Amino acid sequence: MEITEKVVGIVRDEATVTSYTFSAHPNAELRFGEFVVAQNREGEWVIGNIRKLENINWLLSGGKSTYHALQLDLEQYGDSIEANEELIATVRILGKIRINGENVEVLPNRVPIPNGRKVYRLSDEVLKAIYNPGIGYIEIGNLLLRESVPIYLNADELVSRHFAVLAVTGAGKSNAVAVMISQIVEKLRGTVVVLDPHGDYIKLKLPNTGKEYVNIIEAKIRPEEMDSEELADLIEVAKNATIQREFLAKAWETVKHEYSSMGGREIIEKLMETINDWIRSKEARYWDGAKQSYLTEELKSERVDTLRGVVLRIRRFLRNYGALLTSEDLISRIEPGKANVIDLGPLDERQMKVVVGKLLQAVFEARVDYEKARKKLERIKEDLRIVRTSRLEEEMRELEKTMRDVEAKSKALAEPILLIVEEAHIFAPREEHNDTVRILGRIAREGRKFGVGLGIVSQRPNKLNEDVLSQTNTKIILRIVNPKDQDYVLRASEQLSSDLLSDIASLGKGEAVIVGQAIALPALVKIHNFKSMGGDYGGEDIGVVSRWLKRAEDEEKERKIQQMYEDEGIEYDL
Ligand SMILES: Nc1ncnc2c1ncn2[C@@H]1O[C@H](COP(=O)(O)OP(=O)(O)O)[C@@H](O)[C@H]1O
Ligand SMILES: [Mg+2]
Repeated sequence: MEITEKVVGIVRDEATVTSYTFSAHPNAELRFGEFVVAQNREGEWVIGNIRKLENINWLLSGGKSTYHALQLDLEQYGDSIEANEELIATVRILGKIRINGENVEVLPNRVPIPNGRKVYRLSDEVLKAIYNPGIGYIEIGNLLLRESVPIYLNADELVSRHFAVLAVTGAGKSNAVAVMISQIVEKLRGTVVVLDPHGDYIKLKLPNTGKEYVNIIEAKIRPEEMDSEELADLIEVAKNATIQREFLAKAWETVKHEYSSMGGREIIEKLMETINDWIRSKEARYWDGAKQSYLTEELKSERVDTLRGVVLRIRRFLRNYGALLTSEDLISRIEPGKANVIDLGPLDERQMKVVVGKLLQAVFEARVDYEKARKKLERIKEDLRIVRTSRLEEEMRELEKTMRDVEAKSKALAEPILLIVEEAHIFAPREEHNDTVRILGRIAREGRKFGVGLGIVSQRPNKLNEDVLSQTNTKIILRIVNPKDQDYVLRASEQLSSDLLSDIASLGKGEAVIVGQAIALPALVKIHNFKSMGGDYGGEDIGVVSRWLKRAEDEEKERKIQQMYEDEGIEYDL
């Protein structure tokens, strides 16, 4: 494998194990970020990135700084001025390389590079081998400064150690996510679930297979799985309306007890009927689960008014959101090997949180049950090879049943799964504690053990829950300008150095800094354009000006037609 391309300079001045400087060859076309290579004191090849480029002129830079002085120098020295131009590059060392057949490993460098060593441009071949180590990797883009070098991410690391895609609006987050999804689904036949609050992916079409592996799932609310507090939130009973909440809880427990197999809109209607019965009879007859018996409570007129308020809220809820109620389990609709897009668009934020919390909980629990049973079953099968006891056999049958139950609920959950949460600041906000944040935190911490990957996407990193963000190992950071967001991201990322951070404000559309376990070395990457790959996700910019101009153009056409009719003396009326 060729390591070097042409010579670009000679090492000079002080060098450490992490950086060195070199004088550039007069003809070298060096750019900020370029990859170079030189041999250290032990003859090992050390690769690095140019992190600083300084131009100096040894004739003109000698302390004389006035305009007139420089003017005189120019006249006096003439052509020799150009010969005294020098470009000095500072390199941050990434590591030494070890080549093993087709593979290139990057290891820590422990020895400095001596002065006088030649510095070369690093070959494409080495870079390609570093960034594409083999199977199980997905292609996401190209090196920003070497378009010929494709960048791959390790899908195992991406899923098992989680990732975050962070940037200002319009920087290219959804595009990057769409590229990842398409690779994971089309190339690796993995299962992805995208939580989509703004309908960014409802038109998702994958580059090679179109809609074949896309499954759009309309988010619905399953009231029977809510507790009374969640239900109260849903129908908008104020948090401090304690009496309304208390009676709602009593009625809900009663209805759930009496109609345990009922769900969806039906059970909410039963709830309303029950409360109406209480109003009519001026007596609440409710089921007390703890006592396992019915209790009754006489209702004074102000209590009756309170209950009327509750009925009003339920009625309004049914009118506005009745169509979103279902008794079907959302997770049963997740299909293996597909991009499952949960369209949260029709819900408001509060409802989204409840629905997402429930969904994540159900997915995680199913995965935990399945993986625990699977591991235990393996052990028991080992034991059974030694001794056959009826107790072990019984246990084996139970574990197999647990696994079959999960499969029956959703085949997709019998395998590892990747959950991608768009607008993650909605679901995992900083300094807020609710079930949705808790389950996201739990998945971030423990998902790895149970094959539940988490990808969070946000334009407000600073507003994200710290635990969740810091548990995401791979960071795909596109343009971020807000210093608070930058600082927050820096603190949450082990591998993000502050010099990489300084790149983040100047990135263009679709350009990203990628750090973490999923990438061989931190890199500045131009993410592939999903549309150019042949895909479509429908969440693109809406094209403000083009739409205004289109309307103006239509008006103009209309006006011309009208003018024509008028000129002809024909009555014009639509
Ligand atoms: N890597 C890229 N290459 C070219 N165009 C891109 C790239 N990423 C995004 N874009 C374009 O920029 C616009 C915004 O991208 P999007 O991913 O929707 O932004 P975000 O999700 O960060 O708000 C889209 O119209 C998209 O086509
Ligand atoms: Mg987006």
